Amino acid sequence: MKILGIESSCDETAAAIIEDGQKVLSNVVVSQIDIHAEYGGVIPEIAARSHIEAINPVIKKAFTDANETPESIDAIAVTHTPGLVGSLLVGTLAARTLAILYNKPFYPTHHLKSHIYANWLSGSNPEFPLLAAVVSGGHTQIIYMKHHNHFEIIGSTRDDAIGECFDKVAKILGLPYPGGPNIAKEALTGNPDKYQLPIPKVDALDFSFSGIKTAVLRAVQKDLNLPITTPSHELKNHLSKQQVSDFAASFQQTAIKILIKKLQKAAKEYPAKSILLAGGVSANSMLRDELHKAFDKSHQVYVPDFKYSTDNGAMVASAAYYSIQSGQKATDPYSLDISPRSIIS
Ligand code: KG4
Ligand code: ZN
Repeated sequence: MKILGIESSCDETAAAIIEDGQKVLSNVVVSQIDIHAEYGGVIPEIAARSHIEAINPVIKKAFTDANETPESIDAIAVTHTPGLVGSLLVGTLAARTLAILYNKPFYPTHHLKSHIYANWLSGSNPEFPLLAAVVSGGHTQIIYMKHHNHFEIIGSTRDDAIGECFDKVAKILGLPYPGGPNIAKEALTGNPDKYQLPIPKVDALDFSFSGIKTAVLRAVQKDLNLPITTPSHELKNHLSKQQVSDFAASFQQTAIKILIKKLQKAAKEYPAKSILLAGGVSANSMLRDELHKAFDKSHQVYVPDFKYSTDNGAMVASAAYYSIQSGQKATDPYSLDISPRSIIS
């Protein structure tokens, strides 16, 4: 079964054609990072306009690369929630139009479900039950899956998402958007033990990441002998290259420690055979290493290929395939609605 997957929930315009949930026939991603970097974050109106410019060429290339046509595929899947409203509208409108024109079964797909299913794209078949750590720019959740298409949220962030925290700390340190990869790069030459940052005490399997961002802010002000009234955007002008690296390394180590600790707690409470990483922050090499160190002896550990860690259309098609296998019925493309927020289901 060949599925066209379309993704446009944030700042990547993407389309891919996947066969039987795992075989990648094409995968096209046009990123808007360079456009938004100028503003230090995603500007929703600019994102929507950029999706409009990119969506048709991206879909066309996905067909050409796969040597397929709209007639030759079996179904169309698209991210319809959660995400930026204007961005979601562009991808869903393109997908609906194709589904109507070519009379193809149509499957709206949840973005976080897609991130989880990125783990199936390399031909792996993680064994159930499993624990998936969804770590992206908008979400931080631990999800327990007893079988395909079953999602039980057992832990969530109470404030910022982990990716958002990487992005905000990067801003304090004067590193460009998106913060995650730039923090990781700076951290390579930094001392992760230079600054002690607090591990928040949060109940159960929940997270809190906003405190650590403030802790970095205060530690930077203190290290620079500046009053706490100094605006965060001024700090970067006073930081040396080594200080930036040391703060990046100390922050990254602490954020990863918070996540691994909660995952270890979850693994004690839930009888999982596999542990999965999902979402943009899963591209972090230190996080991948630490996950393997913590769980290799007790669980099967899966991380997506780097190219499927951040937003892409391949994961959308893969998630739709396994939903179809689990009995999900096609949706009427005329009646689809988008939603900026929603819980995985
Ligand atoms: O999943 P994603 O592409 O979009 C959302 O669904 O949010 O995730 C984007 C997030 C951003 O916050 C970005 O800083 C973070 O993933 N990210 C990373 C790395 N690469 C991307 N965070 C830490 N280390 C990385 N290497
Ligand atoms: Zn995402």
